Amino acid sequence: MHEEPTLRALADRRGIGIGAAVAYGPLVGEPEYARTLAREFNMLTPENVMKMGPLRPARDRFDFDQADALVRFAQEHGMRVRGHTLVWHNQQPAWLTQGNFSRDEMLAILKEHIQTVVGRYRGQVYAWDVVNEAVNDDGTLRDTVWLRTIGPEYIELAFRWAHEADPAALLFYNDYNNEGMGAKANAIYRLVRDLKAKGVPIHGVGWQMHIRIGPGGYAGLEAMAQNLERLAALGLQVQITELDVQVQKSQAPMAERLEQQATLYGDLMRFCLAHQACTAFVLWGFTDKHTWIPGFTKHEDWPLIFDREYRPKPAYYALREALAGGHTTTHRR
Ligand code: G3I
Repeated sequence: MHEEPTLRALADRRGIGIGAAVAYGPLVGEPEYARTLAREFNMLTPENVMKMGPLRPARDRFDFDQADALVRFAQEHGMRVRGHTLVWHNQQPAWLTQGNFSRDEMLAILKEHIQTVVGRYRGQVYAWDVVNEAVNDDGTLRDTVWLRTIGPEYIELAFRWAHEADPAALLFYNDYNNEGMGAKANAIYRLVRDLKAKGVPIHGVGWQMHIRIGPGGYAGLEAMAQNLERLAALGLQVQITELDVQVQKSQAPMAERLEQQATLYGDLMRFCLAHQACTAFVLWGFTDKHTWIPGFTKHEDWPLIFDREYRPKPAYYALREALAGGHTTTHRR
């Protein structure tokens, strides 16, 4: 029987990264999860286990077991790792948020954190989301423990320390609702432009893209192209880092929703393939069985490309056709 090429085989041919966020539990507990991941993707992002909360249960104690296991899995299957994430306001350990540390202590904690984590995976994590979600929707800097104690320069310092710890790793600023040309994307553009101008080691911007079908579900391809071009003009890469496409709010029959979802996945993959600066396309999970969306929206959803039984959905075939250079509307199966 003729075997269809996998997403990763096609992506390898096109020279693009195709990845998924990976949860530790199913990776070790469900053979079908691990099999599908290794078969279809050439890149992975740890969904939670490299964040500061899980990784650093006490100030003087790091717990690398699960992160190591994910990195090992990637190595065994020839996949690149996107490290996620060094500086964030969420999933932080209580000892940090409740520690009432001085500016100097926070500087020392952050430097030690970044250098320990990036240093441990030097040469093994190809790209890091160094700073995650530091900008509000209105373009101001988010009020976080880092901004409050250190000041805005925590961003620049984080990039510098990460680069010192692994000069070969690509360093990203990552955020959501930032793919278009709105206030937030504009502020991020200015932020990274200023970092570049100062010689801060930054190599790209991540667009998370937790989006949905239907009007206003995301910024649209035209705005994305405009934004990508200005970022590329700074010499930066753009990666789609956390894509998932919610369908819960639509009233259309499910089959139709899944077709709309597929069209979106395909359009976005073609967008990425059409722009040299777009170097990776990473989904936030791959099976509807394991997705953060219902936990967050409190509604059932089907945002990914495999169903709960690991069967490919229309979105899977749309990605495959886009990667193969075809059209999403014909011969999907
Ligand atoms: O592991 C603990 C477990 O020990 C505990 O018993 C249980 C009780 O709540 O929680 C478990 O932790 C949960 C963790 O996921 C692992 O499953 C947290 O409660 C839960 O909040 C956490 O959610 C993660 C979320 O980030 C936190 O903000 C999602 O899995 C993860 O998909 C999501 O990922 C973020 C990206 O990092 C950044 N961009 C947005 C994206 C979606 O929110």
